[in-house]
This record gives sequence, structure tokens and C-alpha cells, in this order.
Amino acid sequence: MDATWTERLGNLHLAILHLPIGFVFAAALLELWLWRRPSAEGRWLAGRLLGATAVATLLAAATGLVLAGNAAGHDADTLSLHRWLGVGCAALAITAWWARMRGADGWARGMLAALAVAVTAAGHAGATLTHGPAVTAWWRGGDQRLEDIAAPAAPTPTAQTPAASVAGDVFVKEIQPLLVASCVDCHGPKRARGGLRLDSRDAAVAGGKSGQPAIVPGAPERSELLRRVKLPAGHDDVMPAGKDARLLTVAEIAALEQWIADGAVWR
Ligand code: HEC
Repeated sequence: MDATWTERLGNLHLAILHLPIGFVFAAALLELWLWRRPSAEGRWLAGRLLGATAVATLLAAATGLVLAGNAAGHDADTLSLHRWLGVGCAALAITAWWARMRGADGWARGMLAALAVAVTAAGHAGATLTHGPAVTAWWRGGDQRLEDIAAPAAPTPTAQTPAASVAGDVFVKEIQPLLVASCVDCHGPKRARGGLRLDSRDAAVAGGKSGQPAIVPGAPERSELLRRVKLPAGHDDVMPAGKDARLLTVAEIAALEQWIADGAVWR
């Protein structure tokens, strides 16, 4: 498929966005230095640097708006936050430049400080868009989805003692608690979202509205349940559904996969 020119322009955003980040912090360092040792050359340079910052920020914001226009499958709130922060950065950068050219040092520095904060926030929201909420999870410290970043491709089978690998034990000790904790609220006796229940083997094998069996014993690759839990955060089909749902960890997914491969023993 050929990328359209808007797609190309939008993707340019991913390269250009690094420029303002560099310029803003270089300009801030220069302003700090100027503040301690004012000089005519320093002011001249600060003016140019802020000019370059304004141009780079405008370019990043403009290509970003084009990219956002094409974007699908992103979390709408994060995208809108990122978009407004990006536009805000461009406005701040132009104001800072303008103040510097007018010789209003205090204003230029104030705007630049606000810009540094806004660029950091915009960058963070942007990273959440491209890398998923794990970026935020990292400093919340709680989310094991981080393992996905460390080892995206190869889910390591859970270490099983020979005794625990007896299929029924695995079900009682690992699989059932997992289904109950993460799925059965929406796929059980209370409600059967998507027409699917996951509180009995027959129901899971029968599947839901899609007509796909959620579980095909012995064939994880054909089990809709497994396809869903492996999807990236923010994907329309990812399970467990729900904005703040805790997605399964790599170890949990590997355990499900192994259990289905072993015949999905349910007791
Ligand atoms: C907050 C509610 C909620 C939770 C929790 C949840 N689901 Fe779902 N699930 C839904 C809804 C709503 C649908 C129907 C919409 C869709 O197909 O995406 C669905 C559909 C499905 C389907 C497709 C059914 C079909 O055949 O159409 C599968 C498979 C599934 N969920 C598996 C799971 C698994 C596995 C878990 C736990 C890891 C889980 N779900 C947790 C709400 C939930």
C-alpha cells in the first residue's frame, strides 16, 4: 500500500518532535547563563535560539495535527490532551520568542519555563500514545505489563513444578482464579457480555456472539480468548475490556496458552 502524502507528513511528526525538546532545553540553559552573566552576544544568541525553538515547535505541532487527523485506535482522551499540549507549546514558544526580541527578559524566561513544563507533559502524553500506558505505569510502579516491553516476543512458559503441571491442578490453582478475577464479572452468571460466559468449559468452548470458540482445547492459536488477551492496551478488542482494566501479564498469558495447549482441562 502506498502511503498518502498526509500519512507521510504525519509520520514526519515522529522525527520532528525531537527538535523542540532539544531546543527548549538548550534555550533554557542559555537563559540561565544569561541571567547570571548578561551580555549582548548572549542576548543575540538567545534570540536566535528561541526563534529556532518557535519554528521547530510549530513544525512539530503542525505535523502532529496532521498525524492526529489520520490516527485510529488511540485512546481519545490521551490524544486530545497531547494535541492541546502540542498546540499550547507552539503558542508558548512563539510568545517567548516575541518577548525575547522585544527585550522583555522576564516574560521571555517565564514563557520559556512554562514551555519546558508543557513540552515535558506533551512528550509524556505522546509517549503514552505510542508506547501504551506502561510508560505511565512505570512511575506508578505497579503494572506488570512492563514485562511486555522487556520481552515482547517470547512469552516464557511459567516455571512449573512437575506436580503443578498436572493439568487439573493448573486449572484450579492458576487458571480458574485468573478467569474469576479478570473475566467472570463480565462473562459469567451476572452478565454475559458479548454473549460469552467463561464460568464453564462448555460455555467457553461454545464462544459468544462472534461465533468463534473462546477456547479450542489443544489449539491456543485458534482460541479467540487468547487472541484477545494478547492484544495491546487500547486495542478495541483487548480483554479484559474497560478503560482501567488491568491487562494480563506475560506470565498469565503464557499460563493460559499452556493450559489450552494441554487440552484446557476444567474441573
Ligand atoms: C468490563 C467487562 C469485561 C471484562 C472484565 C472482560 N470482558 Fe470480554 N467482552 C466484554 C464485552 C463488552 C464484549 C463484547 C464486545 C467485544 O466483542 O469486544 C466481550 C467479548 C469477549 C470475547 C468475544 C466473544 C464473542 O465471541 O463475541 C472474548 C473471547 C472475551 N470477551 C474474553 C474475555 C476474557 C478472556 C476476559 C478476561 C481476561 C474478559 N473477556 C474480560 C466485556 C468484558
